[in-house]
Amino acid sequence: MPTCPAAHTGPDSHTGPDSLPTSTRPELRGQERNLVLGPGITAPRRARAAVTETLTAWGMRHLADDAIQITSELVANAVAASTKGTPEGAEPAPVTLTISSTHGELCICVWDPDPAPPPRTRQGPGTWTERGRGLFIVEKLSARWGWYPGQAGKYVWSALPLSRPSPAA
Ligand SMILES: Nc1ncnc2c1ncn2[C@@H]1O[C@H](COP(=O)(O)OP(=O)(O)OP(=O)(O)O)[C@@H](O)[C@H]1O
Ligand SMILES: [Mg+2]
Repeated sequence: MPTCPAAHTGPDSHTGPDSLPTSTRPELRGQERNLVLGPGITAPRRARAAVTETLTAWGMRHLADDAIQITSELVANAVAASTKGTPEGAEPAPVTLTISSTHGELCICVWDPDPAPPPRTRQGPGTWTERGRGLFIVEKLSARWGWYPGQAGKYVWSALPLSRPSPAA
């Protein structure tokens, strides 16, 4: 199932877990939840609710703030991309979300039907810029993030260490 590539492949890797040698592939039998979110504007809200519920069930509430923010940004971008990547008049394929925890990391992985990759963020948005903050936030909150192509579309993923300390009150 879609997950984050192993850490050694580096932050700029565009290689998916399926193309890694079997010996270095992430353990796929860890905890995992898959959701089909649909293409609509309710997708980010549904995704946030799913992350909250899942992290509560897995005893990982300390990661919820960052994970919810990251998920929100990735799903909002995926919804926008799915509209862009679909011919006019056709129904966009639904965005999907996979939340998994393997190898000491929480992985948030979002699929959309647009094969075009997200840009790598190199600098923050200007003070007065209204758009272009989402990936900057993802970059800042993730330990690693990236993307890899699917059979159709692509996966954009973010990894957070499970050991990340709870923020000071
Ligand atoms: N999943 C994606 N597929 C294709 N392009 C993407 C994807 N995610 C981001 N992008 C591209 O990267 C740009 C920057 O994304 P980013 O989330 O930083 O800003 P934004 O979505 O334009 O604005 P906002 O600050 O509201 O998030 C997008 O405008 C889009 O062109
Ligand atoms: Mg965005």
